[in-house]
Amino acid sequence: MIKLSKNKKLPIYIQIYRQIKNDIINGNISAKSKLYSVRSLSQELNVSVNTIRMAYKLLQNEGYIKSQPKSGYIVVDIQKYHINRNPNNKMVKVNQQRNSIIEENHIEYDFTYQRMSMELFPVMKWLKYTKEALLGPDVYKMGQYNDMKGELELREEIRKYLAVSRGVNCDVGQIIVCSGIQHSIEILCRIMSPGTVALESPGIPLWKKIFSRNGFEVLELSVYPKNNYIESLMKSNAKIAITTPSHQFPTGYTFSLQERMQLLQWGAETNGIVIEDDYDCEFRYASQPLTAMQSMDLNDCVLYLGTFSKILLPGIRISYMVLPKKLLPDYDREYNLYPSGIPWITQKTLYHFMAMDDFSRYISRTRIFFKEKYDTLVQAFKEHFKDKVEIIGNDAGLHILIRVIEADSQETLIEKAARKHVRVYSVNEYWTDECPENILLIGYSFLNKTEIQEGVLRLKEAWKEYL
Ligand SMILES: Cc1ncc(COP(=O)(O)O)c(C=O)c1O
Repeated sequence: MIKLSKNKKLPIYIQIYRQIKNDIINGNISAKSKLYSVRSLSQELNVSVNTIRMAYKLLQNEGYIKSQPKSGYIVVDIQKYHINRNPNNKMVKVNQQRNSIIEENHIEYDFTYQRMSMELFPVMKWLKYTKEALLGPDVYKMGQYNDMKGELELREEIRKYLAVSRGVNCDVGQIIVCSGIQHSIEILCRIMSPGTVALESPGIPLWKKIFSRNGFEVLELSVYPKNNYIESLMKSNAKIAITTPSHQFPTGYTFSLQERMQLLQWGAETNGIVIEDDYDCEFRYASQPLTAMQSMDLNDCVLYLGTFSKILLPGIRISYMVLPKKLLPDYDREYNLYPSGIPWITQKTLYHFMAMDDFSRYISRTRIFFKEKYDTLVQAFKEHFKDKVEIIGNDAGLHILIRVIEADSQETLIEKAARKHVRVYSVNEYWTDECPENILLIGYSFLNKTEIQEGVLRLKEAWKEYL
């Protein structure tokens, strides 16, 4: 019995082909038996004859069936080629990383933090700069391997940008163009001496994984509900501290000036390295951002990480790091023979984009655009949930945390939201120790303002028992 799903992204003929193929392989359709004629199967399944023809054609091309004059399509005896499954080979189940309730319920409002809407991205300009790169005199670089650190002129633009926007003080030689912050961290693991690394908890689980599998010992220090990070760091034997001081991820907490000074002090006294992850520094809505910690570093102990994933798009896959000078010899030793892993064309296009006069206007426009979304989101929660929802995070970034005061299970909140076709996110993966059960992550980089308002209204219906 063939079952078709109109919702699946898979074309119908592929669905038919796969099911028949599986039945043949499993022996549910025996060798030499005759398949339905094209016409009768098309009537049976209520699909066009062409769809059936295409499915049969695939099966025929792959040798599962053959066409016999006057008899129609006959199943080939493939059992003679049958290979028994090795009992020692365990079947690996592919983790779809999806919540079934979400699969079943079509999502209309996705409060994801992992996607950016394309609304603001200047497609025409990007196209123009790509063309300029391809028609320009440097195009010969496409024919060769280039500097591992990244294109010099792009690094120079990044240097100027960081100096003005974040007060970062460095030589262009300290800047390395990378393919996302996790790529930067992989590189760091090769050039820093293994030891203990202090991570924030809650924080990004991938950082823990990368450091651990590269032989570093990982220490997770709590930043929420109370920020004990620095106090615990001082007492630890850590030599490296990775932190998100401008906008702690995911709590949104901003380290005070005093806390930053303490971190710098720790770096200086222990000859340690403070890795400053400034992933969404462009988005600060209510006040001037504090300058980067790197700008206050007098002891060459801060390693600065930044990315274009938020201000442009994550699919561009370009980030950068500013190494402290003391790590440059280690970097050169490990990487002097490596060519850059970032496509030259993307680097050159980005260079043109950054060098254009209105790059800073683009950033201001983007900031206003996301501030309006942030205001809309917070306003909608206040209007519909009053004091039943606490908003954690402060006028910055592209996500907030919410605490649904009366609720006691993230899973239930997520399920109820999904039944109203809204997707909200668990924070479990970010916490090492006990994760508060009524906190969720809400991103607003993907939905527009109307969708944000409608999405929150749906959440009100979904969570009415907590109001
Ligand atoms: C705290 C934090 N650091 C780094 C990143 C990743 O940046 P990239 O896209 O450059 O890998 C993210 C992504 O959202 C993030 O939340």
